[in-house]
Amino acid sequence: MRILTGIQPSGALHLGNYFGAMLPAIHLQDEGDAFYFIANYHSMTSLTDPALRREYTRDVALDLMACGLDPKRCVFWKQSDTPEHTELAWILSTVTPMGLLERCHSYKDKVSRMGDEGVITVNHGLFAYPVLMAADILLYDANVVPVGRDQKQHLEVTRDIAIKFNLLYGDTFVIPEPRIRDEVAVVPGLDGDKMSKSYGNTVPIFGEEKAIKKRIMGIVMDSRGMEEPKPDAEKNVAIQLLRLVAPPAEATSIEDRLRAGGFGYGDLKKQLFEHYWNYFAPARARRAELAVNVDYVEGVLKDGAEKARTVARATLARAKKACGLD
Ligand code: ADP
Ligand code: TRP
Repeated sequence: MRILTGIQPSGALHLGNYFGAMLPAIHLQDEGDAFYFIANYHSMTSLTDPALRREYTRDVALDLMACGLDPKRCVFWKQSDTPEHTELAWILSTVTPMGLLERCHSYKDKVSRMGDEGVITVNHGLFAYPVLMAADILLYDANVVPVGRDQKQHLEVTRDIAIKFNLLYGDTFVIPEPRIRDEVAVVPGLDGDKMSKSYGNTVPIFGEEKAIKKRIMGIVMDSRGMEEPKPDAEKNVAIQLLRLVAPPAEATSIEDRLRAGGFGYGDLKKQLFEHYWNYFAPARARRAELAVNVDYVEGVLKDGAEKARTVARATLARAKKACGLD
């Protein structure tokens, strides 16, 4: 089984990214042939600062490796080191109906949130992004693509494009399946909405202790006092996040105390912070080691690019032959 996923370098990674996309991908490393890349071409649709792109790219590499992405068990690289993606994207775009892209929620959503003030306006890259994503996936004959629920439609587009190409030019591409874990399909943010970089409601995986504590202690709760029982405890954002980072028995016991009354929101948030901080302690230590060893990380990405490129070249050659370019 070939597993593939990409993650954009577009800001500090958070608990939503971790539980929704990173952890499932890390677990899948042992179930097949895993290919994971940093989607820096994709980040160009929303980020125009070159220094920031470089910084985020390095951060994503450190974050993923600190969290358990193991270059001995997967191929890990930076998308721009395998330019075959963009060549295949052109070929695929010629078999992609406009209507398919016009229907994409993520594009429509980004356009509606963009307004007039952004440096980046509605650009062709943003519109064509699902075609690049299809190329990312099809180049590696991926069977399984672990993603959060918001990427499901892009996987459907990829499948449609592959089927269309295969019909027109003969069997060339493997048809991939998304892998979406229901339990963590949507991790809530500090305000109860989906946790997202663009909503400013995140708990980052890594960061300065004081600042993160302040964010967690700042979660807005209802006005019920400490003594009051809270029978709807399962709806509490802090409880939902606690369930992700605390041992299950511990989370259940805290939830029971909240239901019973006599347990305040301040204590709840303190417990959440403690568990969050402990949960990522080993990863934090690994990240600190990697951060002073950036040459090693660069080396991993370079080796990964070489391995990825061997596969990408072969698939691109097959596609070019099929459609009469070679
Ligand atoms: P963001 O919304 O913060 O910009 P991205 O769109 O870069 O995050 O998402 C990267 C990956 O993380 C995707 O696979 C996405 O589905 C997943 N993801 C992002 N936010 C969440 C969330 N709140 N819950 C579950 N998965 C998420
Ligand atoms: N579009 C994905 C996101 O925003 C990132 C991505 C790019 C991706 N190419 C991919 C994910 C290929 C899976 C497979 O999160």
